Amino acid sequence: MTQDELKAQVGQAAVDLVPEGAVIGVGTGSTVNHFIDALARAGRAVAGAVSSSDASSQRLRAHGIPVLEACAVQRLPVYVDGADEIDALGFMIKGGGAALTREKIVADLAERFVCIADQSKLVPVLGAFPLPVEVIPMAVAQLVRRFATLGGSATLREGVRTDNGLPILDVRGLSITDPLAMEAQVSQWPGVVTVGIFARHRASVCLLGTPEGVRRIDFAPL
Ligand code: 5RP
Repeated sequence: MTQDELKAQVGQAAVDLVPEGAVIGVGTGSTVNHFIDALARAGRAVAGAVSSSDASSQRLRAHGIPVLEACAVQRLPVYVDGADEIDALGFMIKGGGAALTREKIVADLAERFVCIADQSKLVPVLGAFPLPVEVIPMAVAQLVRRFATLGGSATLREGVRTDNGLPILDVRGLSITDPLAMEAQVSQWPGVVTVGIFARHRASVCLLGTPEGVRRIDFAPL
């Protein structure tokens, strides 16, 4: 099976985890696109979605699924999103699609984070995928120096601005052995809007696409 077929498989499987009639959180990326399409195909009546990007909002609306502002809801039963990497505890790197800030905001509203990913995303240690960090432009040089002290090499993502109009740094060479600690540390640096480590907002469950079928991993409380 191709990677895209594995993504389609988990996008489809995630529909079963959506409560009928609920407002749900919807993430961003090619796996989530499969999920949105499967949700529409299934005719599963959701009341609406809070979306983490303009691209997902557009796709949801094209399927006739109402898109709500985050400030219109207090709680979401479930947030469905992909990941660039996920480890055995449900900690993730996200932001390959530059939507990390809104993704963390929507994840923060959700009771459960359902991660959908093909099997290549499951890793023993986070960090082989360059860590995305959304930043304020005037802080870029100082943040590049700060990441160097952690052993990381940070470069601006060429030609990319987020939906918030801000640049992304991609940090290579990190081995993130303590995701909670690194997320807390980097989040405090002036000029960091969002770091793409999802540790405080880790996955509750992961649907992993494999050639043998969907593998479900439930993450126990820490
Ligand atoms: C976007 C993300 C995506 O969830 C992540 O990049 C995975 O994308 P894909 O489903 O296309 O592999 O974090 O900011």
